[in-house]
Amino acid sequence: MREQLRLGVNVDHVATIRNARGGSHPDPLVAARLAIEAGADGITAHLREDRRHIVDDDIHRLLNELECPINLEMAPTDEMVGFAVEARPHAVCLVPERRAERTTEGGLDAAGQQNWLAPKIGRLIEAGCRVSLFIAPEPAQLEAARRVHAPVVELHTGEFCNARDSTTLAHEIERLRAAARLATDLGLECHAGHGISFDTVGPIAAIQQIVELNIGHFLVGEAVFTGLGATIGRMRKLIDEARAASIRPEVAR
Ligand code: PXP
Repeated sequence: MREQLRLGVNVDHVATIRNARGGSHPDPLVAARLAIEAGADGITAHLREDRRHIVDDDIHRLLNELECPINLEMAPTDEMVGFAVEARPHAVCLVPERRAERTTEGGLDAAGQQNWLAPKIGRLIEAGCRVSLFIAPEPAQLEAARRVHAPVVELHTGEFCNARDSTTLAHEIERLRAAARLATDLGLECHAGHGISFDTVGPIAAIQQIVELNIGHFLVGEAVFTGLGATIGRMRKLIDEARAASIRPEVAR
């Protein structure tokens, strides 16, 4: 059992804000550097087929400029496998992707897509990437992950994190606990992620078999509140200084 749980910070939604204006600010690479300084162990980014947030150049810059492990989330398509084999990130997490979805809605159907997934996983492993499958915490999916030789699974924590009543919360955390135990019994490294917040991280982090969490949306959203005051304060100061200097030029000197 590991004492310390690895934290991967997903910087997708820094890119979402950047892309709202089509410029270069805020830069996910700057956010990634801050995340590492703040205690993250690695950076995660999802290159979606429609490039709605992270774009190819972001992945190249993260890989070229950072020393830490980069975990590339992607759909198991030929295009994405080709991209990953060239870029060779430390890790690839295979996720299902539907164009119309707002975010990754469910886990991969590893059990139903075994024959389609296996050769793609093989190519990625051959390229030196640590491959994980993002799956629901269900025995059939874990057993399929083992059959297709994925060394790692990432358990989808969305059902637990979105639960609103105590019965569902208890049921969902028990599913995660049981899945994490089974993953370890099957020889799979166990990660978890999706929808994790300050309110939901405790019971997930307490599951001993889980060695890595990937967290994104909540961190970027919460940073708006915890960082907004300082940012506005700095803007206020710059405005006041510039105005004062324009009225009394000697202040600027
Ligand atoms: N893990 C996987 C496989 C994901 O697809 C996502 C969402 O991109 C996350 C973790 C992070 O989820 P969230 O942004 O809700 O923290």
